[in-house]
Amino acid sequence: MPRYAVETPRARYVVIVERGALASLAAHVPATAGKLFVVTTADVWRLHGEVVEKALAGRPRQVLFFPGGEERKRLSEVEALAGQMLRAGGDRSSVVIAFGGGITNDLGGFLAAIFMRGIPVIQAPTTLLAQVDAGVGGKTGVNLAEGKNLLGAFHQPLAVVIDPDVLATLPGREYRAGLFEVLKCGVIRSPELFELMERRPAEVLAREPSVVDALIAESVRIKAEVVSADEREGDLRRILNFGHTVGHALEAETAYARFLHGEAVAFGMRAATHLARLAGLLTEEQERRIAAAIAAYGPIPPLDGIAAEALAARLQGDKKTVQGKVHFVLPERIGAVRVMSGLDQAMVLEAIRGALR
Ligand SMILES: NC(=O)c1ccc[n+]([C@@H]2O[C@H](COP(=O)([O-])OP(=O)(O)OC[C@H]3O[C@@H](n4cnc5c(N)ncnc54)[C@H](O)[C@@H]3O)[C@@H](O)[C@H]2O)c1
Ligand SMILES: [Zn+2]
Repeated sequence: MPRYAVETPRARYVVIVERGALASLAAHVPATAGKLFVVTTADVWRLHGEVVEKALAGRPRQVLFFPGGEERKRLSEVEALAGQMLRAGGDRSSVVIAFGGGITNDLGGFLAAIFMRGIPVIQAPTTLLAQVDAGVGGKTGVNLAEGKNLLGAFHQPLAVVIDPDVLATLPGREYRAGLFEVLKCGVIRSPELFELMERRPAEVLAREPSVVDALIAESVRIKAEVVSADEREGDLRRILNFGHTVGHALEAETAYARFLHGEAVAFGMRAATHLARLAGLLTEEQERRIAAAIAAYGPIPPLDGIAAEALAARLQGDKKTVQGKVHFVLPERIGAVRVMSGLDQAMVLEAIRGALR
């Protein structure tokens, strides 16, 4: 069974990637734990609650629902859940199990981070995006009206339990959006992963189990390695933001309504790849291969009416922009990237124009 260790100055935990792993969820709950709180959404619970219910049988537990959706990833929901926990007998010995997509992992993780100044969380991500990204790494948080993920905490989980079986029910568009984050992992750090996606799109899209498991395992291996070396987003962790600089601008410009996160990242990767080529870092042949791989898992929704200038202007407002410096993660070749700032504005604009065409 693939197990990956995350080791940061504050925590050490395993990430398990295995079909049927949810059935052994209880193995990750400390014997001394008090009441368990499964934080989830109604749809995920309806589809996959039974296996979790069985896995936790015999342990004191309560299932807590929240409405889901980006607009409900808010502090008010965290407060409501914390109240329910207290009324149900939650205390410092309680453990949260965040069971759902990335929104659930972020919100459930943040709830655990601040409930009575912090209780443990077990992450059980159920979308491809959450399995390869949101569930691993300890970033938790909620949105403000002013922007995404602006309230949050680093709170490393006790364990991350990834069961690829649950992906069978994931809508096709959500699945493809997650694939773009997998492709990102390939471009930044793993030529093998990139080549798997480049060569076998039919099996990837058909969710061929052995291929899906390999995609998740390799992405998790990379994320675990990067987070272990750099928990709090210094230079190394930044490489995980490949495609996210322009991707975030696109999400914000379209009010988070038109593109799924992974789709916006696909667009952002196209822009960053073109920028790398314009900056003389990447060969034309490598740009073509990356662009073709992105296209193979598309299409993303139409980009009509989006102006390159508007996206460029948004880059300055990004959360990742520190003291006005926009950082780009640019591929030098498939499997290696470089973080750069201070790039010529006209070149950035041209790269965005290229991605819009
Ligand atoms: N903390 C991090 O490091 C990190 C990294 C990446 C993304 N994120 C966050 O993750 C969120 C996006 O996550 P997401 O893309 O998983 O969205 P999501 O949580 O909204 O899930 C997408 C949809 O799929 C449903 N769903 C979940 N699992 C399912 C399953 N197995 N079968 C059928 N339907 C299922 C959900 O209920 C939801 O409707 C964003 O808020 C983003 O900020 C966090
Ligand atoms: Zn992302």
